[in-house]
Amino acid sequence: MTPNVWSNIAADTEIEFCLATVDPNGAFTSGITRTQTSQTSFSIQTDNMKSSSSGGIDPWDQDDYLNIWVCDLSGGILGYATPPSTFNNPDDGVVIGYRYFGTLGTVQAPYNKGRTATHEVGHWLNLDHVWGNGGNCGSDNVNDTPTQEEENYSCPAFPHNANSCGTSNSAGDMFMNYMDYTNDACMNLFTIGQKTRMTAAINQYRPNLLNHNLCSNTPPVPSWNCLNGNCIDPLNGNGTYLRHQQLSGSLLLRSRHTTSL
Ligand code: ARG
Ligand code: ZN
Ligand code: CA
Repeated sequence: MTPNVWSNIAADTEIEFCLATVDPNGAFTSGITRTQTSQTSFSIQTDNMKSSSSGGIDPWDQDDYLNIWVCDLSGGILGYATPPSTFNNPDDGVVIGYRYFGTLGTVQAPYNKGRTATHEVGHWLNLDHVWGNGGNCGSDNVNDTPTQEEENYSCPAFPHNANSCGTSNSAGDMFMNYMDYTNDACMNLFTIGQKTRMTAAINQYRPNLLNHNLCSNTPPVPSWNCLNGNCIDPLNGNGTYLRHQQLSGSLLLRSRHTTSL
């Protein structure tokens, strides 16, 4: 539960993602791909999950899609993300260890409520840790999150560490913020200030996320059946079509994919 002192700054971020229904080839997709690999683990140092040449899988166009790689992640971290200043980096996206993704299957308590994705997407949209990194009451560049001395784990009781950074945190640490390190079940808010920062990051760095039409619930021209860029029109068996016939109105129209396949 969010303590009463902060209930007025707990935000509805109004940021929602959906699984893509159209892939970069214009084919229908569940938004999930699965890659078999002989790689036994993947690392933050080499980003080897992000390329098929190193046993992973290449990303989809980063200006249209948020890529999330779920894999066996070495080094004891739950996940990591690229902040938006690295938008053009081919590694742009979020990586999450398979034990810490979602709520089902191989997921492990206490990281079994999907909060690693919430946390990493926060970074992907320019949020810093609430303690500002580095310890010693650093800044997270958000005004309404109280200054806090360092990260928290597990789930402290409220109030926790009140005044440890002087009067700037008289109510103590906001350890239930998604940008701390507490257990999934302990986390429950982004603040209005964090929402403002994420919204600004979308507008400044990732505006195509607002424009594309790749996850509408009504897929474009469902008569076409496409696999890996090869499409068949079930009406006439013709395998050649103009992409704009299929993706009318979508973002891909203005991209380089307007020629026939
Ligand atoms: N990057 C952080 C780590 O690897 C993620 C922390 C996520 N916390 C959570 N409760 N799911 O430690
Ligand atoms: Zn983090
Ligand atoms: Ca702050």
